[in-house]
Amino acid sequence: MSKKTREILSQLTLEEKCSLCAQADGSFGRIPRLNLKGSVPQDNPRGGEDYFRTGRPVEGDGKYHPVAFPSDACLAMSWDEELACETGAYFAQECRANPDLINWLFRPGVNIKRSPLCGRNFEYFSEDPVLAGELAGSYIQGLQENGVAATLKHYICNNQEFERMTTNSIVSERALREIYLRAFEIAIQKGNPLSIMSSYNQVNGEWVNSNQHICDLLRKDLGYEGVVVSDFAAVHRNKIAAHNCGMMDIELAPVDVHSDELLEAVKAGKVKEETIDAGLERVLDLVDRLYATTPAEADMEVLHEAACRTAEQCIVLLQNNGILPLSKKQENLLVVGGLAENPSYMGGGSGHMNGYKVETYLDVIRAVVPEAAYEPGYQLVEKMHPVEPGVPELISSAVKAAEKADKVIVFAGLGYCYESEGYDRKDIQLPEGQKLLLDELVKVNSNVILVLSCASVLDITPWADKVAAVVYNSLGGEAVAPATVNVIFGDAEPGGRLAESWPVAEGHMPAYMNFTRECQDKPDVMYGEDIYVGYRWYEKRGLPVLYPFGHGLSYTEFEIGKPSVSKSDITPEDTLEVTVPVKNTGSRAGSQVIQLYVSHDTESACDRPVKALKAFAKVRLEPGESKELTIKLDRKAFEYFSVNLNRWIVENGGYTLHIGISTADILYRVPVLISGGEAGFLYTEMTPLTWFMASEKFFRILGENFPPEVSGMMDRNAGGWADLLSPLPFYKTTEPYMGTAMFTREQADFILKKMNEQ
Ligand code: BGC
Repeated sequence: MSKKTREILSQLTLEEKCSLCAQADGSFGRIPRLNLKGSVPQDNPRGGEDYFRTGRPVEGDGKYHPVAFPSDACLAMSWDEELACETGAYFAQECRANPDLINWLFRPGVNIKRSPLCGRNFEYFSEDPVLAGELAGSYIQGLQENGVAATLKHYICNNQEFERMTTNSIVSERALREIYLRAFEIAIQKGNPLSIMSSYNQVNGEWVNSNQHICDLLRKDLGYEGVVVSDFAAVHRNKIAAHNCGMMDIELAPVDVHSDELLEAVKAGKVKEETIDAGLERVLDLVDRLYATTPAEADMEVLHEAACRTAEQCIVLLQNNGILPLSKKQENLLVVGGLAENPSYMGGGSGHMNGYKVETYLDVIRAVVPEAAYEPGYQLVEKMHPVEPGVPELISSAVKAAEKADKVIVFAGLGYCYESEGYDRKDIQLPEGQKLLLDELVKVNSNVILVLSCASVLDITPWADKVAAVVYNSLGGEAVAPATVNVIFGDAEPGGRLAESWPVAEGHMPAYMNFTRECQDKPDVMYGEDIYVGYRWYEKRGLPVLYPFGHGLSYTEFEIGKPSVSKSDITPEDTLEVTVPVKNTGSRAGSQVIQLYVSHDTESACDRPVKALKAFAKVRLEPGESKELTIKLDRKAFEYFSVNLNRWIVENGGYTLHIGISTADILYRVPVLISGGEAGFLYTEMTPLTWFMASEKFFRILGENFPPEVSGMMDRNAGGWADLLSPLPFYKTTEPYMGTAMFTREQADFILKKMNEQ
């Protein structure tokens, strides 16, 4: 606690302290009596009364309109930590350029994309915790190094919008740690966000705000010492429990609800004054530190350009038969789709950004090819839960034009009302009108370039093999149009790689059976897919995907040389260095993302994913240029959370490093052997014989110490009684279960000791 905070606290009455814990005007640490103006955190650099807005505001409203950089879903596709840090720095600059001088932001969100349907996926990075955590951490660095506090949100297991304020996420301890917490952990360790926002939902039956286990994970396991703020109106009659639990330093309150409740509880001894003090100390310390943030200038044109460069590095070229990049000399170019005039660039709700200058695809294309023709092809409906049926006249007019066109660029995807805070998408389908249009267009023109805008997966399987190229720009911010057009005409490289897998069928999606169920019977959301989120699911189940995680094409060619590994025989405490030579062998500059996945191949105490991303590196190379990338792996790359032992462990045995450019495009597999680790499993006398019988070690011990018939009796492949015996707890082997005991007590103890030896 700073001296200043100590002094402030000592001057406050109990009433003042309690009211400071939830100021309904959204200010934190504002104490007029002591001339302290506090801080008013905002969701975006726009600030002011735009605070809670869904959808697009009226232009020319005299408010500050910051440049809308690409959404975090789009930024994630850059796989570029430096770019994420730069983006954070741009946000900080705009916050400081706001006349109200914003010094605290409620971003970024690092929730895992458990399902492509989540309405807020545009605010989240990835289905993978390493990619999400690393990029969020870098973004936080950029923000905070420039004087603006970040708020990492929404902690935790808030992965859908449907009934987000009342749902109960039922999640296993292993999935909680390995998937959901891991993203927070990485972002916290890398970026040290000055605050964290807790989420609305319950986890395993208790509101996050007052969930002691969830609090302990943050405060004790991750050692987080910053401010924890509740989500907006997320206190559900658990104010007292939330303060006592340590998960709420300050409440983001809509109105002065239950204003006296805390005061009365402190007076009645139900909450200790020290508890309130501890939370306020953190808040006041932070506010005090933020007073040092000074105003900045922002040249909006320069920032708009930066938003364009950023988007270019995120755009993913999903497929290309060689049609792209287009030459600028186009004779009969046709542009189709209402989105060409009205691009989707950001989702709705508190994460929405209005933008400084939203350019349209049509204008930008016509600046390159002035005579390009245009057909709307479908009608965009801008309202919540829109229905967009086909408009026959629009379709037939577009088809007639396409028959005569040399090439057709179709802008498809979701208008801005589909993806928002507060509700989820119903499916991964394109609107009906766009589907009918595409069906017809691909019949009459084989040079269709499909450009997709949507923060998450779309089902384009019916047309994928009928179009010449597919470009995916997510929700790419206000400069998405120039960035995309630059990619199409080759002025920019498609720098992005997918941060999410694209399934071939909706029913294949990991959380398909446990997502957005309109089930009034109970508010439980079963995280039934467990750790198998995203590619972990598709790979484990052997399900094909349309485009794999990490995928993205380039306009140039890369030669990725054989990786070298600093050591192949390691202990869990070693740091492994993997060096990968990459050369641009094509004729254009371009970037490549080297992805490193790890699998555990030998006997494990638990079920393992086929492989999991542990590290990545992006490199930009001029034609002919080469570089060596060095990727470091420490024990985190090999550990898993043992539910049995209730801690992270590294098992001994064989692992493989999979080095490639997507989950499906692995170029090298490097074996690594770990010794000096642990067993994820402690054999006890209650362990079923099944587990002994599944272990080679057990048979080795038997073979070395007992007559052969003992091994024979325990061998499930030997055709004896082993299967029948296998459910027995181990201690039963010392009892005459089938006439005579198999082992004496000493022998059983000896076996147990040996089994648990490393
Ligand atoms: C959202 C948060 C946001 C807060 C304040 C809530 O409804 O879930 O992400 O920061 O409002 O706008």
